[in-house]
Amino acid sequence: MLTDEQRTTLIQTAIEARQWAYVPYSNYAVGAALLTASGKIYDGVNVENAAYPTTMCAERVAVFKAVSEGERRFEAIAVVTSNGGSPCGSCRQVLSEFGLDTLVILADCDGNLLQETSVADLLPGAFGPKDLPGQ
Ligand code: THU
Repeated sequence: MLTDEQRTTLIQTAIEARQWAYVPYSNYAVGAALLTASGKIYDGVNVENAAYPTTMCAERVAVFKAVSEGERRFEAIAVVTSNGGSPCGSCRQVLSEFGLDTLVILADCDGNLLQETSVADLLPGAFGPKDLPGQ
């Protein structure tokens, strides 16, 4: 269960991170902030590339930063855009690897909470470790 203070902190962290989005092609900046079970927050932004498919989303940058530092359990992720955009399919899949219960908070750049949901709700029937023989 997330406290109001944690929710506000996550949204504010994502808003602050968003300024670093590298978006020369879409001009659609995304900021993310991921709260781990250990209480740390990892932020992320989208990083675009002239070879368009090489672009990486903000949510996955945050998850990969956290996992690369040993984190495996996540409480919540806040995603901030100009219009409340929801995580793409690839980001939903990456988040699902580390838990279907992770809260997903969507907010705009003014800090307005637009939606609160979960990875399970965003990715019904997720393919996961349970589907691989021997896992
Ligand atoms: N984007 C994200 O950062 N997260 C998402 O879940 C959806 C899309 C980025 C990728 C690209 O830089 C821009 O938004 C437009 O697709």
